[in-house]
Amino acid sequence: MTLDDELRQYKKFRPKSEELWKRALRVLPGGISHTIRTFGLYRIGSFPIFIKSATGPYIVDIDGNKYLDCWNGHFANIIGNNHPEVQKVIRNHLANGWHFGTNTEYQVELAEKIIDGNPGIEMMRFCSSGTEATMYATRLARAFTKRKLVAKAKLGWHGANDTLYYCVGNLDEKFIPPGLTKADEANVILYEINSEEIFELIKSHHNDLAAVILEPVLGGGGGFPSKLEFLKRLREETEKYGIMLIFDEVITGYRFNCGLYQNELKVIPDLTTMGKIIGGGMPIGAIGGRRDLLESSSPQSKNQVLIGGGTYSGFPLSMIAGLKTIEILEKSKEQYIRINQEGEKLRNQFNNYFNENKIPMVARGHKSLVLLHTLSKYIQQPNINDIILNTDKNLEACLHLYLFNRNILGLHGLGALSMAHTSENVEYIAQKVLEIADLIAQSSFNQT
Ligand SMILES: Cc1ncc(COP(=O)(O)O)c(C=O)c1O
Repeated sequence: MTLDDELRQYKKFRPKSEELWKRALRVLPGGISHTIRTFGLYRIGSFPIFIKSATGPYIVDIDGNKYLDCWNGHFANIIGNNHPEVQKVIRNHLANGWHFGTNTEYQVELAEKIIDGNPGIEMMRFCSSGTEATMYATRLARAFTKRKLVAKAKLGWHGANDTLYYCVGNLDEKFIPPGLTKADEANVILYEINSEEIFELIKSHHNDLAAVILEPVLGGGGGFPSKLEFLKRLREETEKYGIMLIFDEVITGYRFNCGLYQNELKVIPDLTTMGKIIGGGMPIGAIGGRRDLLESSSPQSKNQVLIGGGTYSGFPLSMIAGLKTIEILEKSKEQYIRINQEGEKLRNQFNNYFNENKIPMVARGHKSLVLLHTLSKYIQQPNINDIILNTDKNLEACLHLYLFNRNILGLHGLGALSMAHTSENVEYIAQKVLEIADLIAQSSFNQT
């Protein structure tokens, strides 16, 4: 099928989404409430779908099309959508009301659960999003160290807060995101993961450097893991100079094992930000780490660092859903092993096929995270820079379109496996992505 055929087929089965998209464009800038939810389809003259429901591995749009869901609510729904046990605890609680704006026992219980399972978390504070959590973590580090600079990994996505929205989706540290000041004026310095650069920056700025923040696996940035040696050295060097090391585990927390990824790495940062899975699909963010740091945010501390506020912080339904989800994950060791292995197998299978057939695509990620990149030309074993500098956004839109037409919902190229995906589901995904890869290779955007 040609791209035009694919576009026609997509449109034919989605009249309600097309109609709603027109209405959405009038009232929501770009028609969306999160910038990536266009799926890039506007680039190829099309529109995104609107979702009605999701259960287990599936998600259904308002036209009744059913997809295998590889997006899982921005990676949050690792146990699948609308898990019956999580639904039950939410429903049971609804009779009591859902928003109190005060303390509940569930906040204590979820904090105890997370602290018990993670040696790096001695205390924690809940907020409503990962964006807030990372903003607060850098503030806490600046206040605690009395230093101003924050070093942020290029391509890292920590939410779009003013401190950390630099070098997102690009490697150009000179680029000033509209509405922000230059990174150096905002006291932010940028570095590439797995490179010497940060160690030189630490040496030259150690008197001023409050924190180094990174995701152990760049998630929104494209699925690029930091090497263990790099993380270990980062821990040693930051410790040497009293610089706070912050791991953003909003994606990686409880994604690869029932706990933070740092436990597996045996690299424990000073502060950790969390979100997504720990809220069981309800809005959440959290900052945790060393007791002495966290205690400086207590109202009882002398110079309180404000890392709180938030009408919905500690939202009861998020606490309850998160607790139940972690309880389920505690019994899911085999499932973790399975989806971690299946994710790795998928990436290998894809990359082998792309290489054998010189297809301008590459799969990156870690364990159950599988993110596909579409490139403007075939590159053998591309590194991060090759991938980012040669990303073809039109082709990425085609990829999403072709996935939809084959009843798969993918974002960032694809997404992640959940425990609700059966091995047959994974097999189907593999087969369809390889079929799509051939179409991508023939696409007319290929040479642009
Ligand atoms: C690693 C990471 N940090 C922070 C955030 C921001 O979290 P939220 O979307 O809950 O604000 C995200 C969101 O995708 C993320 O992936």
